[in-house]
Amino acid sequence: MKRVLFALSVVVTAVAGSAFAQEQPVGCAFSITTSPAENTQNAMNFSWATDKDTHSASLEITTLKDKTWKKSRTQVVEGVLCTVFDSLYSKTPDGKNFYEDVEINKYNASVSGLKKNTEYKYRIIAADTSEVYHFRTAGSKNWSACIISDFHAYAPLYKRTQSAMEMVKTIGSYDQPYQWVLHLGDVTAWGGSYSFWRELYKEEPFKQYMWAGVNGNHDNMTRTNKGNSNQFFRQTAAYPLNGYKGEEGVCYYFYYGDVLFIMLNNENMRSDEGLQAAQQWVRKVVAENPARYRVVCEHYQWFFGTNGKESQYARWNRLFDELGIDLALSGNNHIYVSTHPLYDGKVVDPGQGTVYIQTPSSDNERGQALVSSEAPEHNADKIKFRWNEGPQTIGGMHMKVTKKQLTLTLLDRNGKVLDVNVVKAKKR
Ligand SMILES: [Fe+2]
Repeated sequence: MKRVLFALSVVVTAVAGSAFAQEQPVGCAFSITTSPAENTQNAMNFSWATDKDTHSASLEITTLKDKTWKKSRTQVVEGVLCTVFDSLYSKTPDGKNFYEDVEINKYNASVSGLKKNTEYKYRIIAADTSEVYHFRTAGSKNWSACIISDFHAYAPLYKRTQSAMEMVKTIGSYDQPYQWVLHLGDVTAWGGSYSFWRELYKEEPFKQYMWAGVNGNHDNMTRTNKGNSNQFFRQTAAYPLNGYKGEEGVCYYFYYGDVLFIMLNNENMRSDEGLQAAQQWVRKVVAENPARYRVVCEHYQWFFGTNGKESQYARWNRLFDELGIDLALSGNNHIYVSTHPLYDGKVVDPGQGTVYIQTPSSDNERGQALVSSEAPEHNADKIKFRWNEGPQTIGGMHMKVTKKQLTLTLLDRNGKVLDVNVVKAKKR
């Protein structure tokens, strides 16, 4: 009966419009998402929230094969009061101004001892039992991921989220199915608007996959652009706490198979000191964590798509040369740019340098003016391909990993292949 009542209350609040965005469901878990643990071959992290009067919740987990949940194990997790989103100025789905009312308990769980290359399911039990969520542990020799960014989820314009989620599904029907989703930032329009995250996490791809991401400038900001903070990103996921001081759970690294992913936060690298702190950390992470492939992800673009001018590339290329970074991924520019393998500022043979790629936007709404198909004014030797569809752009990427190479494929909204980049494994 409780379940029926809850279902009814969701319908009623959805119709009520502005009340919908303000109320937290009482007694049950929301904003549930699967985040990587440091080693996704045998562990996984989980994030969710409840109202502030619910203080603990259980995570029940088992393999997908265990149909009746007979072999499941249950972990009780205590919530921690989170008020970073409370009273921030925001917008309801029907376009009304309001202040977010968000005093919640936030839960971070980590489950270890998992079997490699195995599909798992889990549910969160508070006053009610959540839907069933899925993920797959690493461990398969060949695997794939979906890559997406810049959809700026915004309550009054649900179509942005819808466009991106359709793109995520389209990428899923290309080549081999992927195991997880990598996002390169700006998944929300204002990360300070908790209701935007809560609604986003109701989308199907969050129930089916582990998501790993980087903090985008929009995810870091409030509607008023005052009180911007990496707390918004930290409090809406459960990333490994292996980042440097002040960036724990925001900057992090993890393995999926034999690929080491290093995730950066541009918002704390605006100053020279900030950049140096990040670079020192990246050096240490690479030195201490051997991997077949090293991939660095951040939000801000490597090159400006409009004219090919250097952006973050200028700040990072020497370090990437020094550390043998295979692939550098970013977003933000809303114009897709891929480069040839680069080393010492020159184009080199595959496997001898770093390939830089920045994703297009995917919300059909906030794209940049159309780029010309001619060679860019700057760095025409380094840049291999640029693409967008103007303000209404939707694109994303499929990444396939084997022992020999990473294959990154850019797809448009119809699943048409526009660019393929092969990153050969380096001999280490
Ligand atoms: Fe963006």
